[in-house]
Amino acid sequence: MRSTRAIINLKAVKHNVSIVKQLAPGCKIMAVVKADAYGHGIVQVANCFTDVEAIAVACMDEAIKLREAAITKPIILLEGFFSQGELRQAIEYDLQTVVHQESQLLELEKLSAKILSATPDYQLKVWLKLDSGMNRLGFEEQDFIEAYQRIKQIKVVDTVNLMSHLACADDIKNLMSKEQIKKFNITTKGMQGLRSMANSAGVVAWPESHYDWVRPGIILYGCSPMLGINGLAHHLQPAMTLESQLFAIRNLKPGDKVGYGSAWTAQKSTKIGVIAIGYGDGYPRHAKEGTPVWIEGKTYPLVGKVSMDMITVDLGADCKLDIGSKAVLWGEGLPVETIAEFANTIPYTLLCGVTSRVKFKWKND
Ligand SMILES: Cc1ncc(COP(=O)(O)O)c(C=O)c1O
Repeated sequence: MRSTRAIINLKAVKHNVSIVKQLAPGCKIMAVVKADAYGHGIVQVANCFTDVEAIAVACMDEAIKLREAAITKPIILLEGFFSQGELRQAIEYDLQTVVHQESQLLELEKLSAKILSATPDYQLKVWLKLDSGMNRLGFEEQDFIEAYQRIKQIKVVDTVNLMSHLACADDIKNLMSKEQIKKFNITTKGMQGLRSMANSAGVVAWPESHYDWVRPGIILYGCSPMLGINGLAHHLQPAMTLESQLFAIRNLKPGDKVGYGSAWTAQKSTKIGVIAIGYGDGYPRHAKEGTPVWIEGKTYPLVGKVSMDMITVDLGADCKLDIGSKAVLWGEGLPVETIAEFANTIPYTLLCGVTSRVKFKWKND
């Protein structure tokens, strides 16, 4: 049987939570599990978060999936509600919501009276979002101040917390984070409510952004959020190991070519190992020649183009490996950050991109 698997180490996820606690002592943690927990399985991962105070998702479907799996922790909708219907669902499923634009304020104002009479006990917690410079979501400064005043008047809203999002926190040399933090401090001065700004990179590199709640995502899955380094530098453990097996070996003479487009030519006699993983499984199509693959304690370079179901590696003429040898594409022994670099992408896309053809196995020990 084709043994292409993603092993998800939930113990590593818990360990990574403990690293966040060390980096941001005293802060509450909103663990980000959007996009199927960055490809790790939203329900399994959320279930292992015994040590965090809340869970953050991008959208309603993700939140409902968690509630239907009996997850009772506070859940925050990071993109907020998209319609009146979703606002009602937020109430029905006891969700907290980000409010980042005027249309959401209007929906809240419109529905407030009706909701109050229908569910008098219901108290909605919202996170009012300031656009501190990313220009993606959030109110600009003056609008934020006005939105804060208005939202305070909405009866159904009992808690208003304050948030913003860092645009360049992964780059320690970039002064943008300092400017954003300053804008957040100035704009929210004197306002009541808990504050949140730090993503993983904020947790690692910008202690001034920690405030009351941190919102780590990628770091929980064992990756460094910082440019040019990997999770081991922060004592993180990789949560996903993507593995497969060597299932064919060919002997090549000098001048023999490998794979589609005959893109790689053997300069000397060698053995080529064929591994059962390809872009149909989420292995990056653009991984460069030389991308490392970890096979039984040693790395071997990718050669030739990545196919839908297979990749080829240069094992060298003297290789003693047999068919059936386990190959690790990323994870334990081979940081996903390294593979992302070779594929000219970021670890987030690799982790999120493992396809449904791959069998997932969750382990807790
Ligand atoms: C609003 C918000 N907060 C926190 C995060 C977590 O980011 P990261 O995975 O870089 O820690 C994200 C993810 O993009 C986000 O959109």
